[in-house]
Amino acid sequence: MTNRCMTQTSIFAPKRILIDTDPGIDDAAAILLALASPELRVEGLSVVHGNCSVDQGIVNALAVLELAAAEEIPVAQGCPLPLVQPSLLAPETHGHSGLGYASLPPPRAKPLSQHACDFLIERILDAPGELTIVAIGPLTNLALTLRKEPRLAGAIKEIFLMGGAIRHPGNTTPLAEFNIYVDPHAAHIVFHSGIPITLVPLDVTYRCIFTEAHLQKLEQIPSPIPVFLRQATRFYMEFHDQYQGIQGCVINDPLALALTFRPDLCYYQDLYVDVDVSGGVCLGKTFADFYHMMNKPANMKVALEVRAEAFLELFVERIAALSRALLAQEVKRTR
Ligand code: BDR
Ligand code: CA
Repeated sequence: MTNRCMTQTSIFAPKRILIDTDPGIDDAAAILLALASPELRVEGLSVVHGNCSVDQGIVNALAVLELAAAEEIPVAQGCPLPLVQPSLLAPETHGHSGLGYASLPPPRAKPLSQHACDFLIERILDAPGELTIVAIGPLTNLALTLRKEPRLAGAIKEIFLMGGAIRHPGNTTPLAEFNIYVDPHAAHIVFHSGIPITLVPLDVTYRCIFTEAHLQKLEQIPSPIPVFLRQATRFYMEFHDQYQGIQGCVINDPLALALTFRPDLCYYQDLYVDVDVSGGVCLGKTFADFYHMMNKPANMKVALEVRAEAFLELFVERIAALSRALLAQEVKRTR
């Protein structure tokens, strides 16, 4: 399960991560970035409802792993619905399949028979304090896992959590960000779990726009990965243009992933952050107590500024290296 694309050798052991995801165009990009990064060892994916149904998300997760020849990584199916709220999927943002205009071959691999919550419990309790969770979908799986096995709160090393909008407008309601809005009660459980959290909200992700120029750079490599990214992001770019007047697309989830090994890409503040679950117009709004009016200790580190160019450069370089590595493998195989 070591990442096959070794762009640089590290004297440190790779960081062991589990990705909880609702794949999703930018989730797929984050998974590829993880596989392209020798600083990380991806020990499994747990899939949750969100951008698409959990059944579709499983197909997408397996297909993206196969695209990157990483089908040995275990994938577990998680929750199909939020804890309290009705289901809310995002076909207008990610397309009906969740991967825009991309059509990957049906995956050969199957998901584990174990539920994602049990998978997370087993893996984390097996290596207490060792595993980092990268949470890039609604937080239902994590919340339910914490309720099923409360010891987990002390056993997870840290969570990098893409979600929330602190000083930035929401992308799902005027106030709320998608991952948090879809299951605000789950977010409430995770935020108050005591696990060290790095929050990666829209404040920083909306500075990271993947553009046509980035795509063209990647397309110089004749590998299926740039082809996939072109087909998937074309839909995502159309959405950003039509709904938000953005030329390109915001790659939220890859930024959260990148911060696991390049924390220097952002500037952070330790803050007390909570989420509104009262059910009115603020439902799912994440708010931070900047002026310590609530007298509560900080419960997370919040990314508030980003070196966007440096991140985008890293993303393109890593995906290019992964594409080249797969191409070389393919040439070798067909010789
Ligand atoms: C988040 O919601 C989804 O649309 C993306 O995959 C990302 O995780 C951004 O609000
Ligand atoms: Ca996502």
